[in-house]
Amino acid sequence: MREVSVSEVWKRKYPEPVVLVTSVDEKGKPNIIALGWSMPTSFEPPMLAISVGKTRYSHKLISEGKEFVLAFPQEGMKDEVLYCGTHSGRKVDKFKETGLTAQPAKEVRPPLMEECLVNMECKVVGELDTGDHTIFAGRIVRASVSEEEGQRLYSLGGERLGGVRESG
Ligand SMILES: Cc1cc2nc3c(=O)[nH]c(=O)nc-3n(C[C@H](O)[C@H](O)[C@H](O)COP(=O)(O)O)c2cc1C
Repeated sequence: MREVSVSEVWKRKYPEPVVLVTSVDEKGKPNIIALGWSMPTSFEPPMLAISVGKTRYSHKLISEGKEFVLAFPQEGMKDEVLYCGTHSGRKVDKFKETGLTAQPAKEVRPPLMEECLVNMECKVVGELDTGDHTIFAGRIVRASVSEEEGQRLYSLGGERLGGVRESG
C-alpha cells in the first residue's frame, strides 16, 4: 500500500448512488438538491441520514423546516440531477428549470418527484455537526415507489453520471 492524501482516496469511491432531496421554504416553495452522501441507518424505526454542506440553500431549508423527501432518480435523469447538483435554489427554481413534476406528499410539506423510482417522506429527528457538512437523521414516515421499474442513477466521479450494470 502507498500512503496518499485523503482527497486522493475519495476519487476511488465511485460508483456512488445519487439521490434527490426536496425541502421547502417558509412559504412552501420547494427546492431540490442532488446528494451522493446518504445512507439507511435503521430498519425499526425506519431511518436514514443525509450529509448536507453548510453553504447549501437546502441546509438552511432542512434545518429550519425539519422535513425532507429523499428520492432515487432513474438512470435517464442525468441532466436533471446535474442541474440540481450545480445550481442553488437561492437563485433558480429547480422544478421549473428541470421540468421535474412535484407531487404533494401526505405526511410532510416538501413534495415528491413523480419521475423518481422511490420517494421517502422524512422528518428530521437529529442533527450532527461533522465539519463543513451536517448529518440530518430522518425518520421515514411514508414511502412510495413508481409503478414502472427502472435502474437507479449513480455518480461515476466529477460530473459523470450513469447506470451501473452487473458485469460477467
Ligand atoms: C452527483 C452530485 C452529488 C452531490 N453530493 C452532495 C452531497 O452529498 N452533499 C452536499 O452537500 N452537496 C452535494 N452535491 C452538491 C449540491 O448538490 C450542490 O451544491 C447544489 O447546487 C446545492 O443546491 P442548493 O443550494 O439549492 O441546496 C452534489 C452534487 C452532485 C452533482
